[in-house]
This record gives sequence, structure tokens and C-alpha cells, in this order.
Amino acid sequence: MKSVVIQQPDVLKIEDRPLPEPAAGEVRVKIKLAGICGSDSHIYRGHNPFAKYPRVIGHEFFGLIDAVGQGVDASRLGQRVSVDPVINCGHCYPCSVGKPNVCTSLVVLGVHRDGGFSEYATVPAKNAWVIPDAIPDENAVMVEPFTIAANVTGQLNPQENDVALIYGAGPMGLVTLQALKGVYKVKQVIVVDRIEERLAMATCSGADLVINNGQKPLQETLDEQGIKPTIIVDAACHPTILAEAISLASPAARIAIMGFSSEPSQIVQQGITGKELSIFSSRLNAGKFPVVIDWLSHGLIDPTKLVTHQFDYQQVTDAIELFEKDQRHCCKVLLTFSE
Ligand code: NAI
Ligand code: MN
Ligand code: ZN
Repeated sequence: MKSVVIQQPDVLKIEDRPLPEPAAGEVRVKIKLAGICGSDSHIYRGHNPFAKYPRVIGHEFFGLIDAVGQGVDASRLGQRVSVDPVINCGHCYPCSVGKPNVCTSLVVLGVHRDGGFSEYATVPAKNAWVIPDAIPDENAVMVEPFTIAANVTGQLNPQENDVALIYGAGPMGLVTLQALKGVYKVKQVIVVDRIEERLAMATCSGADLVINNGQKPLQETLDEQGIKPTIIVDAACHPTILAEAISLASPAARIAIMGFSSEPSQIVQQGITGKELSIFSSRLNAGKFPVVIDWLSHGLIDPTKLVTHQFDYQQVTDAIELFEKDQRHCCKVLLTFSE
């Protein structure tokens, strides 16, 4: 089989590898589609501190079960599945409180273990979630990015009368926007970015208001319109954003951060305690695959609005370069592995 392998930072090869056999408790998935994410590019470029090389990247993938390991029911053969990349131990403290996404021995497919940019991948059977026939392949491959939105919004307890502000109209901002509008029916969702084309995508995904903060300070724009956000999600993840979010937020607001920067953020206690703000963080997803599959079944979200390009996996290098260089025209880029 062919696999997309990052042999070492900046060296991507399509390798011929032996077809893997599923171990006990695992299934083998014949991949149909996979999505390119910022973290794939970070592993490629050597910027992901968790990655070990060589590595088959890809943690957003969909396909058909074509082999089962010992102990897995043969009735699973042929199932259409999306794969949760989060593999956890099941007995540590975070696992015991429902946070497998921060398991003390966390393994993420495509990061710590070979992932889905391959003709086949073996994965734990319980990570392979069945996709109902009514959900098309192009939506099924987008389950994982929407689980990030399910996780972050799940922390925030959004209500219809909230005023939500999202920093960043990249894939993460847009999935969060669709969840807040489509699932939680939040009255007003505002999206902030510096790139007009991305703000246009936010409008297309249901934003009530978009603001370009490259032109004037966000605080000024919000003050002019009398807006005090009650929910703020940082899906742009620059370390300066948290301090601004604390200052923009309404009293009693909830703020969620999703970034992995190692640079400090300058915040003061008074800004948080004075308004009794709640600050959450969100990493990957904690068992959100069934949640998102349900959203898709009910038509609450529309992943096709995020997909701008599709390539055959043999063009993976071009696909990643386009994804990295052209934020104006690129959002989610898909790779096709088989028909
Ligand atoms: P992206 O780079 O495609 O999008 C980020 C957007 O934020 C861009 O459109 C950019 O123009 C905008 N932006 C940057 N600085 C800004 C600022 N100061 N104000 C307003 N907009 C600004 O990235 P993507 O894929 O949407 O991911 C966003 C972030 O989320 C990344 O930092 C990534 O590491 C993080 N992430 C976190 C996950 C988690 O589970 N915690 C999962 C996936 C991504
Ligand atoms: Mn991703
Ligand atoms: Zn654990």
C-alpha cells in the first residue's frame, strides 16, 4: 500500500509499505478521504513538539472497514467509518473524569502513531464510528474537525441569548461558528479575522456580523456598536488575544482558548475576577464523534461550506503547499485515497 510519510522534518515521501494486519481489538480501514489540518503541516515542517519521525500523518479520515482483528465482530466488515484519532488508556485520572483527550498516556493517530494519509490504516475498533448511509463521504471526512467545535462549545454551555465572538475564521473558527449557530441557535455570533476572504466564508457559514480587526482595534468597533460578548472563543490562538478577550468580555462571560503557543500571555487577575469570567481550554475531543454524527444526521451543520479543494493523494505535496500559502482561497483541503 502507499502511505504519505514524513521521514523527517521537511521530507515527505509516498512510500510503499506492507499492508498492515489489524491487531486484536483493531480494524483495518481502507481510506477513501482524508482532510489536511494545520497540525499535519506542523509535523511536516518539524514544528510539532509531540511528533516522532518517520510518521504517516493525517488524523481526519474516513473509509471502509476491510479487515478485523481478533475479538472484533466480523459484522463490522464493510462498515463506512470515521476514525476518532484520540486513543486513551481508560483508567488514569483524566480518563476517569471523561477527558480521554488529555489521557496521561494519550496517543493521537497521525501524531504519536501512524495516521490516515495512507491507503489503509489499522485503528482500535472502538475508534471507528459508523456513519449512517444518509451522510455522504464528503461530510463523513469532516467529523473530526467538527468534534473540536463540539468539545469547545461543550465547555461553554451556550444559550440562545448569548452574544458570541470568535477570533479567527480559519477551519477552527468556522466549525465553532456553525456549532454555535446551527446547534445552539445563539442569537448573535460575531467572527473576527484580518483576511476579507475568510470573513466572507464566515458570513457564508452563518456569522451575524464579521469584523476585520486588521484595520482598527476590535475594542473600538465593538464599543461603537455597543457589543459586549458573553462568549469568546479564541480560534486564532495568538498569545495576545487572551488579554484582549478578557477586556472585551461582558461580566459573567465565558472564554475558551484553543492555542498551543509557548509564548506568555499578559493577563491580570482583576480583569478576570472583577467580572467573574470563566476561562476554559479545549484540546482535541472527548468522545464527541457520536455527537457530531448526530448533528450531521439532523442537518444542523454543513461541512461542505468549509471544503475549498480536493486532490488525489499523489498530489499531497502540492495540496499541503497550497493549504499553507493561500489562506485567502483555501480552507479545508481533502485528499482522495480511493473511490
Ligand atoms: P488557521 O491558521 O487556518 O486560522 C486562523 C485564522 O485566525 C486565520 O484566518 C488568521 O487570519 C486569523 N487570525 C490570526 N491572528 C488573528 C488575530 N489577532 N485576530 C483575528 N484573527 C486572527 O488555523 P485553524 O486550522 O483554523 O486553527 C486555528 C488554531 O487552532 C491554531 O492555532 C491551531 O493550532 C489551533 N487548534 C487547536 C485545536 C485544539 O483542539 N485545541 C485543534 C485544532 C487547531
Ligand atoms: Mn485537525
Ligand atoms: Zn488515560
